[in-house]
Amino acid sequence: MFSNLKQQPADKILALIQAFREDPRENKIDLGVGVYKNAQGQTPIMRAVKAAERKLWEEETTKTYVTLAGDAAFSDTMISLVLGDAVARDRVAAVATPGGTGAVRQAFELVQMANPDARVFVSDPTWPNHLSILKHLGIETVTYRYFDTETCGVDFGAMMADLDQVKAGDLVLLHGCCHNPTGANLNLMQWQQVVDLLNAKGAVPMIDIAYQGFGDGLDKDAAATRLVAANCPEALIAASCSKNFGIYRERTGLLMAVAQEKGLHGVMQGNLAYLSRQNYSFPPDHGGKLVSIVLSDDVLRADWQVELEEVRQGMLALREQLADELRRLSGSDRFGFLAQHRGMFSRLGASPDKVERLRAEHGIYMVGDSRMNIAGLNSRTVPVLAQAIIDVGI
Ligand code: LMR
Repeated sequence: MFSNLKQQPADKILALIQAFREDPRENKIDLGVGVYKNAQGQTPIMRAVKAAERKLWEEETTKTYVTLAGDAAFSDTMISLVLGDAVARDRVAAVATPGGTGAVRQAFELVQMANPDARVFVSDPTWPNHLSILKHLGIETVTYRYFDTETCGVDFGAMMADLDQVKAGDLVLLHGCCHNPTGANLNLMQWQQVVDLLNAKGAVPMIDIAYQGFGDGLDKDAAATRLVAANCPEALIAASCSKNFGIYRERTGLLMAVAQEKGLHGVMQGNLAYLSRQNYSFPPDHGGKLVSIVLSDDVLRADWQVELEEVRQGMLALREQLADELRRLSGSDRFGFLAQHRGMFSRLGASPDKVERLRAEHGIYMVGDSRMNIAGLNSRTVPVLAQAIIDVGI
C-alpha cells in the first residue's frame, strides 16, 4: 500500500528553516519563516505569557477534557479582542483550533459542508499553505489579482475587477491585516468597497487574521475584520495567537463563524464541534488558557500590550531604517514601499534568481517570491541587507 505514495513537494517556507540551519556561514541572515525575533535573534516567551504559565501551573487542578469547542473563556476573550463590539456575541459561533492553520482548515471544511460547489477566491499571492490546504480538500480555487509589482502596493482596481466574478455562495479569503506575503494592505475605504461588492453578489468573506498587533496596533489591525463582521450577513474569521502572544508551538487559534440571522448560532456551533470531533476530537487547551489568563487579568494584559507594542515599533523602525538605507544607496525612492508596508513581511518584488543570489552570495535567506521577514533583521544587519540588495541588482 505505502509504495503507492508519492513524495510530497516540500513546503517552501519550512524548507528554508532547514537550509538556513545547514548553512555554516557565520554572518548568514534568516528572513524566512514568519517567526518574530528580537535584536539578539531570539524568539522570547512574552513576560505576561510566562506569568500566565506560572499561574496556570499553580492553579490548574485537572487535565481532563474540556469541550469540543475548547474553553469558553478563551473564545470569549478572543472574540472581544478580535471583534470588539462589532457584532452581538450570540451571532458568533466559535471553536478553539490547533493554531491559525487549524482554523483555516476547519473554515474551509465548514464551507465545503455548507456548499459543496463553493469556489474559494484567494489573493495572488497569498500564504502558500492556503492554496495547499484548498488543493488537499479538493476545493476549487480562483485567484484575484492583488499585488502591483510596479508600486509594490495593492492593485485595487484589478482586485475589484477580479472579485466582480464571484457568485452567490463563493467564499472570498482576505487577510485581515499585515498581508502575508506582500505586506501591502487595503485601507478602510477600500475594505468598505469590498464588503459592498461581496454583499451585492451574495459571496461570503473569510478573514485570516494572524498578525493582529503587528501592523498599526491591536484595534487598528482589527478594524477591517470588525467592518466585515458588522456589515456582512455571514463571515468566517480564522485568528491565530501564534505571533501576537508568541506561542507558536502551543498551536492556539480560534475559528469564528458569524451570521446575522437569528437561530443559526446553534447550528453553526454544532457543526464546528462536529468538525473538531472528526479531525482531532478536542482542541489543545494550554495555549488558549494562557491567552485567556493574559486577556482577563488587567495587569498581565497591560504588560502584554506594552511588550507587543515594543515588537511592533521595533519592526516599524527596521522598515524605516531599511527604506532610508536603500534610498541612500540607490539614490532613488523605489524602495519607499518598505516603510509603507505593515506587519512581519514585505515582498521585495525581486525575481527568484536574484533571491537565490542573495542566498548564495550573501547568506541572506528569504522566500523565493522575495518575501522577507522584517523581524529577522536588526539595526546592524539592515545595512548589510541593503548593500546586498543593491549588489545583486534588485
Ligand atoms: C509564515 O508564513 O512564515 C508563517 O505563517 C509560518 C508558516 O507556518 O508558514
